[in-house]
Amino acid sequence: MSKKLYIKTYGCQMNVYDSARMADVLAPLGYAPGDDPGDADMVILNTCHIREKASEKVYSELGRMRLLKEQRAAEGRDMVIAVAGCVAQAEGEEMLRRAPFVDMVLGPQTYHRLPEMVARVHRAGADGRGVLDTDFPVESKFDHLPAARGGDGVSAFLSVQEGCDKFCTFCVVPYTRGAEFSRPVAQVVAEAEVLAARGVRELTLLGQNVNAYHGLDTQGRATGLGALIRRLADIDGIERLRYTTSHPRDVDAELVAAHRDVAQLMPYLHLPVQSGSDRILEAMNRGHDAARYLEIVQDLRAARPDLALSCDFIVGFPGETDADFEATLDLVRTVGYAQAYSFKYSARPGTPAAGLPGQVPEDIKDARLAELQALLESQQAAFNAASVGRTCDVLFERPGRHAGQLVGRSPHNQAVHVHAPEHQVGDLATVVIEACKPHSLEGRLTEPGGIMPSATSEERLSA
Ligand code: 5AD
Ligand code: SF4
Repeated sequence: MSKKLYIKTYGCQMNVYDSARMADVLAPLGYAPGDDPGDADMVILNTCHIREKASEKVYSELGRMRLLKEQRAAEGRDMVIAVAGCVAQAEGEEMLRRAPFVDMVLGPQTYHRLPEMVARVHRAGADGRGVLDTDFPVESKFDHLPAARGGDGVSAFLSVQEGCDKFCTFCVVPYTRGAEFSRPVAQVVAEAEVLAARGVRELTLLGQNVNAYHGLDTQGRATGLGALIRRLADIDGIERLRYTTSHPRDVDAELVAAHRDVAQLMPYLHLPVQSGSDRILEAMNRGHDAARYLEIVQDLRAARPDLALSCDFIVGFPGETDADFEATLDLVRTVGYAQAYSFKYSARPGTPAAGLPGQVPEDIKDARLAELQALLESQQAAFNAASVGRTCDVLFERPGRHAGQLVGRSPHNQAVHVHAPEHQVGDLATVVIEACKPHSLEGRLTEPGGIMPSATSEERLSA
């Protein structure tokens, strides 16, 4: 009989990818993913440690899971609770002490060993479970994971690089994800081919520092992200490529050239700057100043004039003055973003910035965040409004909320709602944008012949 698995994912897309791979690892053990934790034989919380709120949420969710576990125990049924991801990595033993009903604590680099951990939990019976595996093993998990099964979507994530050696002073990633690591080119290509064969049309390459990618090719030569993108663009069926998250320091000429030459590489880039103040950038250990960032943006836009940019910002980094914050607003006005994320600085235990003098009071952080977000939202609204009346390709991903409607993505990663028959999920269609809402667009199919069915969707139609 199949067992039910419930995975709740917090945080970044890397965690979304990891959750899918954990499901792949557990499938041979008879676990089938479901969406009801109350009915689950195993619950995995795949956690995020990047900001304070993220880890607090995990402990309150664990409280809820504990109640479900007790209910099931009263009915004579077992529930294994696992905590994975970056909070698990950071807390380790402490998590088993604070939440003793948790059965497994595992880090982002050890989930290929899940079957072993499950066996240990079952051997231990009801008591004394508490399996902990937060090593940074010498072997790469990617060499031990089963082949990706891929979902049934048209758009998929593919992890190509992980970890980070940059040590921005605010960030826990170098401690929770470990040292930088790139998967070999052949491994990435093989996974992309499996996904393409399953109907995936759009691949988003993932890495904490994805453009630091330097995977080895079969001759043992380091290959950069630009070259990897060119290789993946050759795969039949892969019509769109994206990558995230990148660091300004690792935007090299080869990557800029890929934006110029590779039609499948979408004109949308998430390129975090965090601050527009040189002083703060220095204190953050970002390794570049504001002028250098603007230069990179200029190079990219020269290569791909329709490139839309997205960004991350932190307000209230220790020592940030009004003038520093003004410099951030200036940078935002200069660049003009299609979309962005902004956060209040959150002191993370063990990171250098947590101990810096000049921690900024909460009310000032709140005010700065509100001001920055108002500016970014107005830029996003203006960007979306400028799409109205234009024609673009939309990749249909799934049925929309209203009958007869599909939802897809524009090249600029905007959600677009269009009236179209359901069998067109997976198609790239030419769409005229007719209206914009705060976070999405509405369009209609151009006709006739506006639809460009992809090879596999035609196969699906005739199947
Ligand atoms: N406080 C606030 N924001 C943070 N980020 C990373 N660490 C912190 C922190 N300690 C933000 C950065 C990063 C994004 C993923 O999260 O903007 O780019
Ligand atoms: Fe964190 Fe900086 Fe590495 Fe990004 S580049 S993961 S912000 S340390």
